[in-house]
Amino acid sequence: MRIDVITIFPEYLEPLNVSLVGKARARGQLDVRVHNLRDWTHDRHNTVDDSPFGGGPGMVMKPEPWGEALDAVTAEAEEGERRPVLVVPTPSGLPFTQELAVELSERPWLVFTPARYEGIDRRVIEEYGDRFDVREVSIGDYVLAGGEAPVLVIVEAVARLLPGVLGNAESHRDDSFAPGAMADLLEGPVYTKPPVWREREVPEVLLSGHHGKVARFRRDEAFRRTTANRPDLIERCDPAALDKADRALLAELGWEELPDGRFGRSASAVEE
Ligand code: ADE
Repeated sequence: MRIDVITIFPEYLEPLNVSLVGKARARGQLDVRVHNLRDWTHDRHNTVDDSPFGGGPGMVMKPEPWGEALDAVTAEAEEGERRPVLVVPTPSGLPFTQELAVELSERPWLVFTPARYEGIDRRVIEEYGDRFDVREVSIGDYVLAGGEAPVLVIVEAVARLLPGVLGNAESHRDDSFAPGAMADLLEGPVYTKPPVWREREVPEVLLSGHHGKVARFRRDEAFRRTTANRPDLIERCDPAALDKADRALLAELGWEELPDGRFGRSASAVEE
């Protein structure tokens, strides 16, 4: 996969040399190129921003440097296979989810345009929306000073899904939010040696070697954690994915089975 990042703070992307992403680059699985937006300015001050039309606070990133940068960086783009996805981090974008990470991991080329200030002149997004697939993406309901940290987040989430990047091909099967058996449940707690630490014992069932019981324990713990931290995921849970033991546990945790088989928080649970 090829990844281009155009930014006024190339040094902010240094962490892409470290750990999982850094190793994937060293192995040639990821071709990451970081570009300085100011290389495509032509004035003495390398200006990239200006005041907003219509007034208001803050500054807006000028379209000309972005246009020149994107033209240069994507000069080799062809229709079809090599068509890049333009990923624009913005708090006004679609929520970044595991599903979107999977979608992006299946594309050969991602181009990131992290902005500072109040964002990029809208015409840039329109211009490239006609040529590339554009995804405006928010990593959460909070406002950061710029899109560079979101780029680090998105690249890491995508890179670990690429074939051969994670050591153990199984290790994302049970991820929270991974499609499949544990769909839409948060992962439960994990333990390793020693079996007793500061008088705290690892749950006995995990030492039993009984695969069925271990799987049930993990699923119960996933339900406990999900009901506590993300009740919205339980409410959206496909009833067909719930077995008898799941239903019994949810009832025990104060959830009510609705006529369509889904679960809702009982009135008393919502008040708490
Ligand atoms: N830029 C500033 N805040 C952001 C957020 N929450 N997600 C993506 N890009 C951003």
